[in-house]
Amino acid sequence: MKKAAISLLTLTLCICMLLCTFADVALASASRPKVEWTYPVSLTALQSPHVILVNVDNLLDKKYKPSPLVKVKGIKRATSATVELEETTLNALKEMFEAAKATTSYTYYVTDSKGVEKEVTAEFEEGMVLYLKSGYRSYGTQATIYANYLDRNNGVDDGYVAKPGSSEHQSGFCADILNKKWAALDYMNQEFETEVEAIWMKENCASFGFILRYPKEKEDVTGISYEPWHFRYVGKEVAGYIMARGLTLEEFTTESQTALNDFLSRGGDIAQQMEYEFLTQNAPPESNILDVYGEDGDPEVSLSL
Ligand code: DAL
Ligand code: ZN
Repeated sequence: MKKAAISLLTLTLCICMLLCTFADVALASASRPKVEWTYPVSLTALQSPHVILVNVDNLLDKKYKPSPLVKVKGIKRATSATVELEETTLNALKEMFEAAKATTSYTYYVTDSKGVEKEVTAEFEEGMVLYLKSGYRSYGTQATIYANYLDRNNGVDDGYVAKPGSSEHQSGFCADILNKKWAALDYMNQEFETEVEAIWMKENCASFGFILRYPKEKEDVTGISYEPWHFRYVGKEVAGYIMARGLTLEEFTTESQTALNDFLSRGGDIAQQMEYEFLTQNAPPESNILDVYGEDGDPEVSLSL
């Protein structure tokens, strides 16, 4: 056996032993709780304030204001007015806007009037540009918008503007996002859904922690008309789960609350489960030694992490 191979073997074994020691320490202090958390979304993700449900049955207090609330700077806006967002939401939004800008070509599928699906590729010489139209709105601002909308709409509430207290714009966790064409208009409607930017956002928003909050054909569940421009921050894990299953936040909340109630009725301990999730998520990956002997019979070690 060559000297170099022996040194490599020794070095690899040392690394392996070190990793096993770290893993043992982390896992020893992360003993699995007796009551198992079986829901596919972690309890930690569910406990986040970003998962709060805001609607007519779950109103925000008149005085509620998100914190930290920050002024939006450095991204394209569809308004000259100041826009504010809750800080984590704004950081996630910036990430999404940057990913859009890095997109120079996007392929998607459209179904024509005859029901035939066809592939379309849109090219963006300078990347796809998104425009932020609206973010945080105070209770008072929402009350004014709601009253003005009713005035313009013959007093009819058709689910386009949320009643004051029931708008998640007051939470600072959501954003209305448009493309250049729609940003230049002084109205929004559902035709925005056919724009490639709307399709890209729907298909990619979960990677940045956002969900399409008011989906088509779920108006009876949300009580709000389909809004292809309204994206709500809930964190990446919850967003991935909701968007993959085509749920609304209402449906997700019912489902996850049922899981939580079941866990508690079985004697589950929230703090213990969250500690376990913290330790296991931060533990180094388990390692295995593979192919101890190579084809030539010389000992070789490869690590699978
Ligand atoms: N347009 C959304 C529903 C709001 O007013 O909050
Ligand atoms: Zn909105």
